Amino acid sequence: MPPRSSHQPRAGTYIPYMAFIIFSAIFVFRLDVFVTQTISTARRNQELKYEITTQEPSPPTVIKNENATFYKHVLVTWGEFHTEILNDGELLKLTLDKHSGSGFQSRKQLLFGKIDMQIKLIPGDSAGTVTTYYFSSLGDHHDEIDFEFLGNSTGNPYTLHTNVFSQGKGDREQQFFLCFYVDNIPIREFKNLERIGVPYPKDQAMRVHSSLWNADDWATQHGLVKTNWTLAPFNAWYRNFSMDGCIWSPETRASACADADFSTRHVLKMELDRRSRARMKRLQKKHMVYDYCKDKWRFPKGPGRECRMN
Ligand SMILES: *[C@@H]1O[C@H](CO)[C@@H](O)[C@H](O)[C@H]1NC(C)=O
Ligand SMILES: *[C@@H]1O[C@H](CO)[C@@H](O)[C@H](O)[C@H]1NC(C)=O
Ligand SMILES: *[C@@H]1O[C@H](CO)[C@@H](O)[C@H](O)[C@H]1NC(C)=O
Ligand SMILES: *[C@@H]1O[C@H](CO)[C@@H](O)[C@H](O)[C@H]1NC(C)=O
Repeated sequence: MPPRSSHQPRAGTYIPYMAFIIFSAIFVFRLDVFVTQTISTARRNQELKYEITTQEPSPPTVIKNENATFYKHVLVTWGEFHTEILNDGELLKLTLDKHSGSGFQSRKQLLFGKIDMQIKLIPGDSAGTVTTYYFSSLGDHHDEIDFEFLGNSTGNPYTLHTNVFSQGKGDREQQFFLCFYVDNIPIREFKNLERIGVPYPKDQAMRVHSSLWNADDWATQHGLVKTNWTLAPFNAWYRNFSMDGCIWSPETRASACADADFSTRHVLKMELDRRSRARMKRLQKKHMVYDYCKDKWRFPKGPGRECRMN
């Protein structure tokens, strides 16, 4: 179980009603993994419109938004009767009640690429619930990149809990209070530091996973605030899912990008520039409530080597 922060919230306004959060995670071959998020400005009670965007036809190695996205690209893995796909497959709803939570995963595995998703978290009193969004490969030495939205009581901010595993080793937690409006500002970057002996998640294809579950024994204020089941069912919504990158085929054990000249692909060349890195640092300074790199109690011998390079 990941450690939980005991920091007090900082001054600032939390988001009273969670709008869709746009999440992009970008995994780049030699460079870095980075994650950006945008909280769109939908307000309380605003009616949400779900638009379907059509995009230009895609080359065969790339999945883009088309109709029926969720029918085509995800498998329900948990809580069949607590999952619903709506709007011709463009909208997905996960439900949590006393009986069960729910979850799904992408059908395809991706080696490198960019994943976008818009998530609408449980509004109001979400204490005790956890909405997860993560990328994971299989096996004992797996790679994994985690985002967990830890719910909170009304008026208190969600905590965004993040972690990165490479070759089975995690312990790289960072947490943020979700009380900021940002526009494509990266929130976290995991650099490729293989040259100093830090494994980098680049050899194992990952699936996208998401789930909604109850964790009121630890999630909110260390388990002190429990889920209020009179408010159930709780729903999290997903839309605008897209994967763009190198699809991995478990049959041929090859990446769809292996043959193609994928260095020309825009997404695989993306990199944080100095300006975005500076904005990220500012955001972290303001909103990060836990950083494993600074946890001397947990890591008396010092945290991971990568911390020295930040
Ligand atoms: C879906 O994503 C695309 C590009 O990422 C964006 O242009 C579009 O506005 C999004 N659709 C909705 C309904 O937000
Ligand atoms: C995709 O959705 C649009 C808008 O709802 C619709 O006009 C179009 O016929 C759909 N295309 C397919 C292939 O289902
Ligand atoms: C919930 O809000 C309280 C008070 O602002 C804060 O201490 C806590 O870290 C927040 N998040 C969680 C997951 O408990
Ligand atoms: C649970 O939610 C109900 C309905 O909103 C409310 O009346 C009740 O006070 C809540 N219980 C707690 C412990 O917050």
